[in-house]
Parts: sequence; C-alpha cells; structure tokens
Amino acid sequence: MIKISLEDRIALVTGASGGLGSVIAQTLAQAGATVAVHYRNGKAQADSVVAAIKALGGRAQAFSADLSDPEAATRLVQDVDHALGSVDILINNAGTDGTCAVVGKDDSQHWQQVLDVDLTGPYYCARAALGPMQKNARGVIINVTSVHEFIPWKGYSAYTAAKAGLSMFTKTLAQENADKGIRVLAVAPGAIQTPINEAVWSHPNSLKDLDEKIAMGRLGKPSEIAYVITFLASDLASYITGTTVAVDGGMLIYPEFRHGG
Ligand code: BGC
Repeated sequence: MIKISLEDRIALVTGASGGLGSVIAQTLAQAGATVAVHYRNGKAQADSVVAAIKALGGRAQAFSADLSDPEAATRLVQDVDHALGSVDILINNAGTDGTCAVVGKDDSQHWQQVLDVDLTGPYYCARAALGPMQKNARGVIINVTSVHEFIPWKGYSAYTAAKAGLSMFTKTLAQENADKGIRVLAVAPGAIQTPINEAVWSHPNSLKDLDEKIAMGRLGKPSEIAYVITFLASDLASYITGTTVAVDGGMLIYPEFRHGG
C-alpha cells in the first residue's frame, strides 16, 4: 500500500488561519507533520486549527507575524525552529486578492500592499527557511500562486503581477537549490470556495458566470488543494521541482472553446 507520510517533518503554513491555509495545515498534520500554524490577525481561528489538529492526535502550534516585515519573517522561522524544530516544509499560502480597481483608478499604496503580501512575504519566508534547509540538505518550499499567474484579470493587476512574479521566483529558487536537496514548487489553485471569493459564489448570477469558466463546472474545495500540496511536500514527489501544478478543475483549458473557435 502506498502511504503519504510526513512523520518526521516540520511544516510551516503561512496564512493558516484562513480558508485555504487552515485546511492545508490540518491535512499536512493528518499525514504526520508537526505544523506551525502562522496567522497575522486571526488568533482565534489559528487556535482552533491547532485545537483541531491536537484533537486528532497531531502536533501543532500557532505563531503570529507580519510577513511583509523581513525581520518578522526571519523571527517566525527561528521561533518555529526553537519551539518545534527546523522547518522542512514551507507553504507560502498567505495572500490577498486586494480590491478591484483598474489601473488609473487604483492607488499605488494598494499596489504595494498586494505585492508585499503576495510576493515579498513569500520571498522573506523562503529566504529565512533556506539556510537551515541547505544545512540539513532537506526541504520543500511550496508557493501558492493562482490560475492568475497565467490568466489576466481585469481590476486585479497587482494580484496577477504578484502571482506571475511568485511563479518565476519559484522556478529561479528551484534552479538555485535543486542540487541542495531542496525542491521548490508552485501550486496554482483555480476558484476554490473560501471567504476570499465569497462575494462571487454567494450570488447565483456571479456563481453561474464563474462556474462557466471552469471546465468541470464547479468550484473547488480547499481539501482538493490541500491533498495535492501534501503529496508534493512528500517524498512521493521526490523528482518534481521548479514547476507550477495547476489545481483548477480545468480553468486553464479554456472551456469556452468547447462551443467553437
Ligand atoms: C482568487 C479567487 C478567484 C479565482 C478564480 C483566485 O486566485 O483568489 O478570488 O475566484 O482565482 O478567478
């Protein structure tokens, strides 16, 4: 029988108080990892993720940090190291869509905020985790991007630019570390039903419009991302690095072309 085991691994999941991150954290724990549950503001949610993991006999602890601050990101990785052990698996999940505004009607402060959270934060965390990973010659970094690393999205230029940037960061970091026992990957979720896109899926008309953009005709569940991430973080995926795995129900296969070209 093939079993995914992360038994002796320490995983740090950023944004683990949120819709996707909380499920990623719990799924990694179910595979045996000890999980550092990072949050910025959602202490109560992070504590309940830790409690849920412990209730199933897993190991987890919550950590707070503002990851747009390089020192805070370094401190987070060090705190996890002291409390739980050296980070083997880093899931850069924390992210934001930002608010919808076309270029010219947006403001540069908002651009910077989205870039800070979606691109610079993952860079700071990866940089902090890399040293110990290189020392141990063991590590996996998974950056959660989006189908919008490929698909332009009106009103979300900062988000698409950040996710495309995170994709190239992933590939370059993978190239720099492929001979050091460290794999670096991106997972690109499509439309997953979480609070981030609740304004869309909570109304029948916008839900129908979104479903039509997905070849499978439905939104994804957080667990459908978390299982793929758990597999990619495991030794079963030992020969994959430097690429994006899209988990999108076929958003990237242009379902509208089923009706003619
Ligand atoms: C965004 C969601 C959106 C989905 C599909 C994701 O990256 O976070 O808000 O529904 O892409 O467009």
